[in-house]
Amino acid sequence: MTVINCLQNSQGNHPSMSLEQLGASHLLVVGQTGSGKTTTTLSLLDQLGRTTTAVIVLDPTGEYRALPGSQHYVVGQNCFLDAGSWDGEELLTALQISHDERQRELVDRAIQSLRIELNIHHHRGLYRKIGRTTTEFSADASRLGSWSKSYPVSLLADQLVEEMIIPFENQHADYHFLGQQYDRQLISRQWEFISTIRHRLVSRDFRELFDVSSHSGRVCYELHFVLQMYLTKRSNKPLIVDLSHLTEAGSVQRALISQLLNEMLVIRQRSARAKEDMFPVELVIDEAHRYLPVDQRQLADNGVFRLLREGRKAGLSLLITTQSTLDLPDRLRSQFATVLIHHLASVDELSYLHYQQLPTIELSTGEVFLLHHGLSPQKWQVIAPPQWLKH
Ligand SMILES: Nc1ncnc2c1ncn2[C@@H]1O[C@H](COP(=O)(O)OP(=O)(O)OP(=O)(O)O)[C@@H](O)[C@H]1O
Ligand SMILES: [Mg+2]
Repeated sequence: MTVINCLQNSQGNHPSMSLEQLGASHLLVVGQTGSGKTTTTLSLLDQLGRTTTAVIVLDPTGEYRALPGSQHYVVGQNCFLDAGSWDGEELLTALQISHDERQRELVDRAIQSLRIELNIHHHRGLYRKIGRTTTEFSADASRLGSWSKSYPVSLLADQLVEEMIIPFENQHADYHFLGQQYDRQLISRQWEFISTIRHRLVSRDFRELFDVSSHSGRVCYELHFVLQMYLTKRSNKPLIVDLSHLTEAGSVQRALISQLLNEMLVIRQRSARAKEDMFPVELVIDEAHRYLPVDQRQLADNGVFRLLREGRKAGLSLLITTQSTLDLPDRLRSQFATVLIHHLASVDELSYLHYQQLPTIELSTGEVFLLHHGLSPQKWQVIAPPQWLKH
């Protein structure tokens, strides 16, 4: 059991709960801007990283670079995402394109076609469906496997047109083909949708995220591969996924964080089933209020929520910091067994945590109240290494 050295009171004592206990539950760090949330998190991670816990930080500001010995990947710079690991729904969300069921289904079909063309026919191009027999298509589709996920995402808009086909409407109709002519009516109804996809795919933001070619000349890593490595084999080095290059597009970050967390959960659940080493992992999201789902209805599929509910069984704990508890949907709040509260002046925010009496208004920078199931709130000073303190 490791003492939480970085929390100390005026008598030089430390909390009775251990660092391992702290790491085993989800932890919420709240406080007004400038109250010391990031510094506290850095101090805890510095200590946690020296135990058996692996640390992964989703860093929206680049401040976690300060963690000693950390491995740093900057999304959009030396690290990109493989669109091939995303399905239609995820891709459309990342592209911020509102869509209906039918459109999502069309995109899923187009993705499947591009995967066939690349992985089965070894050709980086469109999969023509006009004049292709249903037997031939079924054979192609059945050969796809988890190894054949990648596809040229830049061709998606053109491939969508190839999906909208129908038989001839006269005596020459042959239902053994997937289709014999373009369905012009459907294409014109969907033209706006197709054009939106085309434009979003060539936008700078998107190309930096997904397109390996825009990173030419630099060594680049695919993020899924990096995460897989960190979640299956314990590393002593904290992994920092720097998202600061994506700051312009909040909803892209939101979709991305949700997907990354979902992906991490899947990787660990798979490891658990395969009875692999389930070392504990602390996942950190700083300034989480930026990424939480705005719409309560989307909560169930959101990665943050799923990880809070299902993560601990897979050895994943979440540490999030936020300026405002009011940004946290009710259903999220109850998932945090431990809360660190910095300076907070609003009674509403405290009431939300059911601690309206706590004198958090008196706290100075770097002081916190530690709340944990069954323990009465106690005040601590966060001892941060001097090199992290900005003056
Ligand atoms: N434990 C501490 N001891 C001394 N100084 C501290 C401590 N914690 C934070 N500070 C100082 O207070 C300032 C703000 O700290 P920090 O960036 O951690 O706050 P924050 O709550 O994360 O702010 P923001 O909401 O802007 O992200 C920094 O200059 C930092 O050096
Ligand atoms: Mg901060």
